[in-house]
Amino acid sequence: MDFSHLTRNHLPALLARMPKAELHIHIEGSLEPELIFALARKNGISLSYPSVEALRAAYAFTDLQSFLDLYYAGASVLIKEDDFHAMAMAYFARAQADNVVHAELFFDPQTHTERGVSMGAVIGGLSRACADAKAQYGISASLILCFLRHLSEASAIETLQAALPYREHFVGVGLDSGERGNPPEKFATVFAQCRALGLHVVAHAGEEGPPAYIHSALDVLQVERIDHGVRCSEDPALVQRLKQSRMPLTVCPLSNVKLCVFDTMAQHNLATLLHQGLCITLNSDDPAYFGGYLLTNFEATFAALPELTVQDAWQLARNSFEASFASDAQKAAWMAQLDAVFQAAA
Ligand code: HPA
Ligand code: ZN
Repeated sequence: MDFSHLTRNHLPALLARMPKAELHIHIEGSLEPELIFALARKNGISLSYPSVEALRAAYAFTDLQSFLDLYYAGASVLIKEDDFHAMAMAYFARAQADNVVHAELFFDPQTHTERGVSMGAVIGGLSRACADAKAQYGISASLILCFLRHLSEASAIETLQAALPYREHFVGVGLDSGERGNPPEKFATVFAQCRALGLHVVAHAGEEGPPAYIHSALDVLQVERIDHGVRCSEDPALVQRLKQSRMPLTVCPLSNVKLCVFDTMAQHNLATLLHQGLCITLNSDDPAYFGGYLLTNFEATFAALPELTVQDAWQLARNSFEASFASDAQKAAWMAQLDAVFQAAA
């Protein structure tokens, strides 16, 4: 489809109206300070910040680890099945406002099971929210179980075993948490087990870690998408490999600036990678911590990168459906809706 006759003046309306999928959102990263305080009060948990404002003021990060410390502390208020449901429903309300029609949510069971919360409470609450999102908002939603890479592979294998009774409630597995010093190959065995079970597999790679981690996520873990992946641009042969295989990268621009992967949005390489022909998607990562949900990420990216066009907006939305784990028929239906929105723009 060619939309080269549409100008950047059309962008505000199109970015908002276009149907889109979100493929890189950690549901624990959608926990807003207000909900953290409400759940802490309900569950009798004391926080080390006196108020919502004081907590929000602490959201100034220097790198991934400085964020993860606060993110895991925030998640400690989640105790009951209902808490997980409430967190995800708050995200779906925001997602609907941004015209998100499909979301694949990452969740970190080890963050909760290590505190004595049962796997059933975590997956039960989240999967009930996914069903309610469909019923209440018409959003199709699925879950991706992430292993924490700063923990051992034995812990990941134990986590997979504990989740298997709930196998029908998640579509895939991922790999997140501190990347440096925790290469993908550390998880070769558990990812092989997951692939044998028919689970989709993705991994964070090349956010803070080197391009070599992207290579090993592809070669050893055999992932179907790379989360972040922005450091691929340091390795031109890798860029060609990603392009030729049409390997999706789930890029999160506001996250990258908040965690100092790029100094400013204007320096972000999303437009360069997209124009090189890679299957780039745009996502929010941890929207409560990084300054915005999906539409805010689109708006900030298009504002900072004047080389991005209406055609690019369409391509990013189309890529989000292409890279999703939905059925081919469902993808085609969303792509047709997307085309109709752009064709209706005068
Ligand atoms: N990177 C790694 N782990 C994470 C992130 C991230 O951006 N967000 C939540 N866990
Ligand atoms: Zn992430």
